[in-house]
Amino acid sequence: MEINERGHLQIGGCDTVDLATQYGTPLFVYDEAFIREQIRALHRTFRELGVNYEISYATKAFCTMAMCQLAHQEGLTLDVVSGGELYTALKAGVPAANIRFHGNNKTLAELEFGVASNVGIFVVDNFVELAALNDIGQRHGKTVQVLLRIAPGIEAHTHHYISTGQQDSKFGFDLESGQAERAMAAALDAESVRCIGLHCHIGSQIFDPSGHVAAAELMCELYAAGVRMGLPFSVLNLGGGFGIRYTQDDHPTPVADYLGAMVAAVRKEIDRYGVGMPSIWIEPGRSIVGAAGTTLYTVGSQKVIPDVRNFLAVDGGMTDNPRLALYDAEYVAVMANKMAERAEETWTIAGKCCESGDIVVRSAPLPEPQMGDILAVLATGAYNYSMVSHYNRIPHPAVVFVRDGKSRLVVERETWEDVVRLDRPLEAE
Ligand code: LLP
Repeated sequence: MEINERGHLQIGGCDTVDLATQYGTPLFVYDEAFIREQIRALHRTFRELGVNYEISYATKAFCTMAMCQLAHQEGLTLDVVSGGELYTALKAGVPAANIRFHGNNKTLAELEFGVASNVGIFVVDNFVELAALNDIGQRHGKTVQVLLRIAPGIEAHTHHYISTGQQDSKFGFDLESGQAERAMAAALDAESVRCIGLHCHIGSQIFDPSGHVAAAELMCELYAAGVRMGLPFSVLNLGGGFGIRYTQDDHPTPVADYLGAMVAAVRKEIDRYGVGMPSIWIEPGRSIVGAAGTTLYTVGSQKVIPDVRNFLAVDGGMTDNPRLALYDAEYVAVMANKMAERAEETWTIAGKCCESGDIVVRSAPLPEPQMGDILAVLATGAYNYSMVSHYNRIPHPAVVFVRDGKSRLVVERETWEDVVRLDRPLEAE
């Protein structure tokens, strides 16, 4: 954490209190150099491991045109899961060939849009989608390139809402019951589909590589079966899910070690089956943008309940950060304008929404707070802006990128007018 001579929190060389004044709050501040360095470190690791690879940025973590452009500039492909994410990526100027279209229920309109736009790869989730894509490909006179998403039956050690690899999951072809093998046979038969490999993703915010390694081993066996079946396989996509540090109690494995363990497992297994080494693909979201983001709020009211709890309220809440309400997530908060002052009491940071579950940080030791202070919540770069809501008709916050002492607005703040823009009032009688 950078602190400047005014005793203020600084990010990317910018004083956060000045940012709050200039752009208003709540404000998402992203450290652009930090994001670029996370990506470059992944490239370096793969190059050192000496494998063919692709890194796909999971845009769901934070999907705006500027972020899609940044990821593209840094040599990433993009993982999108909806027509809206696809549209954002295309609008940002990312070539369709570099886009991978995921999702367990892409609508026919989304599939049509994807095929018509020449999306590079569809990650097919189920038999219904495989048949639909084959039809659409035929109609458009195109061969659609796909990966098959497999549910490998691996329990990831994370919150059950963000665990996806287990057998009882809505995602992917089930390995255990033989669905995965049948999907490979169906893909081989589908004339307008060319299946170039397999995909799995076991969950998110995972700290220990053992689940990814176990999944990689199972996937290699299936991959080898696909090669023997005659599928033109060259890709094994092992998903994202690498955990980050939200508080000092979090001890995630460094991503480089993760990748080392995954690649070693694939090398060993693939060798056993005697097929060629696939290109290893990953699709991280959180580990690229999570720690790069900070939310700035203006402090408002407080309520001290003697011997019970101190509540401090900010001008946002579950509308810009629903992660405590959804996953019991923990965050660190600091007083951005009082970084040199000692913490006096512990505060629970509440939002301004009309419900008790609207808490952003359960426990934050802070210096004596006053209305108008600027509170910073750290590591809010992933799945915060992307999960904003209009609950209580609260406008969406603005987003800025900061770098070398300069800030750029990349998403404007909504106004109350924006909030009612799509409403159609009843006509006067
Ligand atoms: N690939 C697939 C197929 C995914 O479903 C996900 C995340 C990722 C990649 C990226 O995972 P990451 O590297 O970011 O962990 N809203 C939740 C997280 C949901 C994750 C959904 N899928 C949260 O706030 O924690």
